[in-house]
Amino acid sequence: MKILSIVGARPNFMKIKPIYEEFKKRKIDQVLVHTGQHYDENMSRIFFEDLGLPIPDLFLGVGSGTHGIQTGAMMSKIEEVLSEEKPDLTVVVGDVNSTLAGAISSIKMQIPVAHVESGYRSFDMKMPEEINRILVDRISQFLFAPTEDSVKNLISEGIDKKRIFLVGNVMVETLLSHLEKSKKSNILSQLSLESKAYGLMTIHRAENTSESEKIIKIFELLKKSDHNIIVPIHPRTKKTLEEKGYFEKIGPNIKIIEPLGYLDFLQLMLNSSFIMTDSGGIQEEALMLDIPCITLRNNTERIVTLKNGANILVGTDTLKIAQAIKGLPNRRKKYPKPPLWDDKVSVRIADAIVENQDLFTL
Ligand code: UD1
Repeated sequence: MKILSIVGARPNFMKIKPIYEEFKKRKIDQVLVHTGQHYDENMSRIFFEDLGLPIPDLFLGVGSGTHGIQTGAMMSKIEEVLSEEKPDLTVVVGDVNSTLAGAISSIKMQIPVAHVESGYRSFDMKMPEEINRILVDRISQFLFAPTEDSVKNLISEGIDKKRIFLVGNVMVETLLSHLEKSKKSNILSQLSLESKAYGLMTIHRAENTSESEKIIKIFELLKKSDHNIIVPIHPRTKKTLEEKGYFEKIGPNIKIIEPLGYLDFLQLMLNSSFIMTDSGGIQEEALMLDIPCITLRNNTERIVTLKNGANILVGTDTLKIAQAIKGLPNRRKKYPKPPLWDDKVSVRIADAIVENQDLFTL
């Protein structure tokens, strides 16, 4: 069997790692394709290094652009790759534009698609990721769901039950297998930080960064707080703040740093006293590490993280953010973990593929 996996953006890399390793163990012939959606050293290459992923077999160098330009460019290149490589199955992960481009190009060439992290729904069609998730799930032959609620979403959309596999969260498998290694990171001393004496914030989502007033208001609120906050900054967020001339006005208790690699970021999460984020995956990582999370969105597709108050949705409402920060001390505890969020997710995925050859038919 020959499997071609497609990645392109930062959150894809940690999801493909255990799957790639499991296929390798089983001596499955595989091709790893990088679309080039993310191309900066610290948005891409450093993850391959930290995760011990091989250099991709093919790098398509697509880069940035509007959704149409970017997705279209990926599709035309992926089509060429697929006709050259002729895999039996294409694996896509997550919900980024590379995921969508890979799935569409593949199914159009009648090559079956396996979608890992299937069934998450925010029910917010303003999110480009929600559109990607729905479309990719609709055209996939293997749907690997991380949670029971994501299975329910797929069933309610009329997807054939025999194609849905509840396998757990593959990103958790990567997290668990890199915790030890991340202890070698010296990021805390590099940034002169003490464990549990700072909050960690990431904010990059289009709906938050497109309106600079929203992020500036959040920074103003944090400036007035008595917390030290570390902010590894996404290139687009940085650009927005610079354009508004706000970059120099960021408070002394807020430290802006460049985006970090996987191991450094893991160490920074692990030692933080709380996390504020609009990322999807970080909400899950915070739950696994028992770090209280404040999510700068009005909805989440990761609804399991909301259980028991491990994660709280505040949008960009500064009043709600202030209240959530106030309530942090009561939220520092051990939270129950969702079923199958463990170190065997990739094994379940590979088993399902190997044992269900009948699902290769479209
Ligand atoms: C993408 C994903 C998002 C994910 C995020 C993680 C989609 C629709 N969105 O969003 O779900 O959470 O990745 O980061 O696929 N840029 C650089 N260097 C890079 C990459 C991007 O400077 O290596 C800048 C460019 O100005 C680019 C902008 O960031 O226009 C946005 O990049 P893009 O890949 O379009 O989407 P993200 O916002 O990163």
